[in-house]
Amino acid sequence: MPSATDTIGTMTGRARLLAAARREAVDVTPVWYMRQAGRCLPEYRELRARCPFMEVARTPELAVEATLMPVERFGVDGAVLFADIMLPLDGMGVPFRIEPKVGPVIDSPIRTRADVERIVIADAEEATGYVMDALRLLRRELGDRAASLGFSGAPFTLACYLIEGHGSREYPRAKALMYGDPETWHLLMEKLTEVVTRYLTAQIAAGADAIQLFDSWLGLLGTEAYAEFVQPYTARIFASLRGLAPTIHFSTGTVHLLDQIAATGPDLVSVDWRLPLDEAWSRLAEGQGIQGNLDPTLLMGGWDVTRRAADDILRRAGGRAGHLFNLGHGILPETDPDVLTELTRHVHGE
Ligand code: CP3
Repeated sequence: MPSATDTIGTMTGRARLLAAARREAVDVTPVWYMRQAGRCLPEYRELRARCPFMEVARTPELAVEATLMPVERFGVDGAVLFADIMLPLDGMGVPFRIEPKVGPVIDSPIRTRADVERIVIADAEEATGYVMDALRLLRRELGDRAASLGFSGAPFTLACYLIEGHGSREYPRAKALMYGDPETWHLLMEKLTEVVTRYLTAQIAAGADAIQLFDSWLGLLGTEAYAEFVQPYTARIFASLRGLAPTIHFSTGTVHLLDQIAATGPDLVSVDWRLPLDEAWSRLAEGQGIQGNLDPTLLMGGWDVTRRAADDILRRAGGRAGHLFNLGHGILPETDPDVLTELTRHVHGE
C-alpha cells in the first residue's frame, strides 16, 4: 500500500497548493488542515511531554520537527508552521504565556490609553527571529513536498486577548473598550496593524509560501462595528502583502460579514460550515478563492460520515480553480489521525 507521502497526480504538493491559491488549474484538490501540527498527534504529545510549548516554538529545529509531523502522516499539501497567533506580541513589550488547555494568558492586560502608548513596534527579525529562522529551516527541509504556510493573529483577535488578558466567550472588556473609548481602540489597532504587517512581511521574506491571518473571534461583531473598528485595518494588511505571497483570511461564525471580509482583499477566504460551500463562495468577490467548510466535529462521526461530507464539498466546488480543501476550524484534539490520512487520500482521488 502506498504511504501518505507518495507522489500523487502530476504536481508537487507545493505547486498544487500555490496554483490553487492563484486560481490556476490543479491536478487534484490541494489539502491542509488547521491545527494539523499539534493536538491530535501522538508524536506531538510525545514531543510536548519533553518540552514546554514556547520552547518548541522558540527552537527552530523543534518547531520544524512538529511542523513536518502532519506532512509525513497525512500527506497534506500545506505545512503550517508550528507557532501560535500570539507570537507577534514578543516584540511589543507585553509579556504573555501559553497555558496548556487554556491558551494565551497576559498577566498585565492593556486597559488604558497609556498602556496602548507603551506598546513597542519592533523589527520583526529582531523581536521574533526564531519564527523567521524556523521558516528558513522549514523551507529547506520541506522541498516541494508541500507549501510552507506562515500565519499571525489578526489585530482584532490579538486586541481581544491583549485587553481581556485571556480567552473568553464574549470578550466583554475588549468590546467595552472598543465601543466606549474608540480613540484608544483605533490607536491600538493602528499599532497592531503595523506589528502584524511587519511580522507577516518578514515571514514571507524568510520563505513562507503563503500566509493566513487568523481572526478567530470576529464572529462577535455586527456588520457596523466590523466596518468601523476592524475592516479598514484588515484591508490595510492585505494591501501591504499584495504581490508578495497569497493570503488567506480566517474566521468562524461570520456568515453575516462574508461580503465585508471578501472586500478586505485576501486571495482566499476560509469559511466555516454554517453555509454550504457553493453558497459561501457566491458571496465572495469576483475571482476570490475559498478554503474550509468541513465541520471538524464531523470527523468524530467516523469515516463514512466524513467521506460523505467531503464529497458534498468537492461536488459544490465543482473543480473550480481557487479551492483549498480544509476544515472550517481547527482539528479537535479527540480526532482519530487515521481519519485525516484517509480524508487526504480521498480528496486527492487516491
Ligand atoms: O497546531 C498547529 O497546527 C500549529 C500551529 C497553531 C497553534 N495555534 C499551535 C498551538 C496555530 C495555527 C494556532 C492558532 C491559534 N492559536 C488560534 C487560531 C485558530 C483558532 O482555533 O481559532 C487561536 C485562537 C490560538 C490561541 C490558542 N493557543 C489557544 C486558544 C490555545 C489553547 C487551546 C488549544 O488549542 O490547545 C493555544 C495553545 C496552542 N497553540 C497549542 C498548540 C499546538 C496547544 C498547546 C500545547 O501543546 O500545550
